[in-house]
Amino acid sequence: MRGKELVVVIDFGSQYTHLIARRVRELGVYSEVLPYHVDIEYLEKLKPRGIILSGGPRSVFEEGAPRVDSRILELNIPVLGICYGHQLLALMLGGEVRKGERGEYGKALLRILKKDIIFRGLDEEEIVWMSHRDLVVKLPSNVEVLASTEVTRIAAFRHKEKPIYGLQFHPEVSHTPRGKLVLRNFLYEICRCKGTWNPVSLIDDIVNDIKEKVKPDEKVLCAVSGGVDSVTTAILVHKAVGDRLIVVFVNHGFLRKNEPEQVLKFLKGMGINVIYVDASERFMRRLRGVKDPEEKRKIIGEEFIKIFEEIADKLKGVKWLAQGTIYPDRIESGAVGARPARIKSHHNVAGLPQRMKLKLLEPLRDFYKDEVRAIARRLGVPEEIVTRHPFPGPGLAIRIIGEITPEKLRIVREASAIVEEELRKANLYDKVWQAFAVVGDDKWVGVMGDERKLGYIVTVRIVESIEAMTADWVRIPYEVLERISNRITSEVDGVTMVTYAITSKPPSTIEPC
Ligand code: XMP
Repeated sequence: MRGKELVVVIDFGSQYTHLIARRVRELGVYSEVLPYHVDIEYLEKLKPRGIILSGGPRSVFEEGAPRVDSRILELNIPVLGICYGHQLLALMLGGEVRKGERGEYGKALLRILKKDIIFRGLDEEEIVWMSHRDLVVKLPSNVEVLASTEVTRIAAFRHKEKPIYGLQFHPEVSHTPRGKLVLRNFLYEICRCKGTWNPVSLIDDIVNDIKEKVKPDEKVLCAVSGGVDSVTTAILVHKAVGDRLIVVFVNHGFLRKNEPEQVLKFLKGMGINVIYVDASERFMRRLRGVKDPEEKRKIIGEEFIKIFEEIADKLKGVKWLAQGTIYPDRIESGAVGARPARIKSHHNVAGLPQRMKLKLLEPLRDFYKDEVRAIARRLGVPEEIVTRHPFPGPGLAIRIIGEITPEKLRIVREASAIVEEELRKANLYDKVWQAFAVVGDDKWVGVMGDERKLGYIVTVRIVESIEAMTADWVRIPYEVLERISNRITSEVDGVTMVTYAITSKPPSTIEPC
């Protein structure tokens, strides 16, 4: 089902690795991320059009620093090294890398010394984004310098006979304004790609693939959560198997305001069989007195699976479980890439397929979120579901610090809806990664007329992020924050103070618990 052209991104642990793959895909070429220790025979079999070596946090000369099999330089496939990848390539080609005296972080002026094809369409001087301490200081005679900055003499190089390139700067980030053009030149001029990748055009292939897998007498179960991934999965499977799809929508009671109603209405409108279970009270009962965040996650995860199993047990002929796994989910769970282990346990129905002996259908497993959104739009999913921010499986439960009580749940739900509404009004909703309210047990004295009243403190968290690996708090205009604060204190009963979270990830996580 994939476009035939593939460009592999080898991951050395940079926070930008997936941005590289996403940019390549945006340019019309299918791209996959593979760990640096990928087997060379496997890589060769994939027949990539090009290989990009990502950046990474280590020093190439450090003990145990990640390396890639040097035979990639003998495959006759174009190679582009970025940042750490640039330094590693220099080393592999026989050059020298040293620790720089002061490093170079942020914007820099790149002076192009040689008009190579990789810089086609660029000016002699261009702004680029740098983030490095180490430097390539020496290159062998068969490698030439293409560009410099004030700090970095060898800011770009190429092998004189082979299509092997190194860039010390990051062409994938938006702070390098013409970076996309550099990547385009690599893909189209050097790797000679044709640009056949377009996720929306693959809808028929995805549906046919499901049709082929699921036999005519087999049924498919699909758990939807309200998010765009699971809803899109359900529609794709429905297109393939029709009434043999049974969608189960378990409402654990921690969904966003109006979310269950909206999702149900849409699925039913599409003619999909939905079993809806409002288990809010059951979850609330199980969580009474529980304060520890991981314990909350565990209980919600277990209860979710139990309910799901109770329903599934009553159904006959179910052989498949369809899940809305997308590409970054596979990466985060350690299936791909060189990333550290996750910090919090994530809840989904992961344990279920083995226990119920179900086969897995994951029609979106190769797509990034933006691509899933494009597919969803083409399938007619309402814009509100398509653009909705990512939402954790345990939902609002992990945005309540301490014990979950009906009052705190009401506060978080109402206050979050206000945060979202005000961001939409200010045209900021689509520009941020996640935005929500958090409540704990801390109280603040409020004055209402002459009366002094103790009320809850609500913390507003609004972050921008690249796939949730790192995040930064968003510099929201004061007026918007003011409106959010005014509305929360006046419309949400029991709140006397609103604060704004101004810590990035790291050191904080995005969710409070
Ligand atoms: P943190 O809080 O670890 O979150 O910075 C990173 C991303 O993961 C989401 N998240 C979760 N998703 N189950 C989920 O399905 C969870 O238990 C969970 N905890 C965090 C979070 O919303 C953010 O996008």
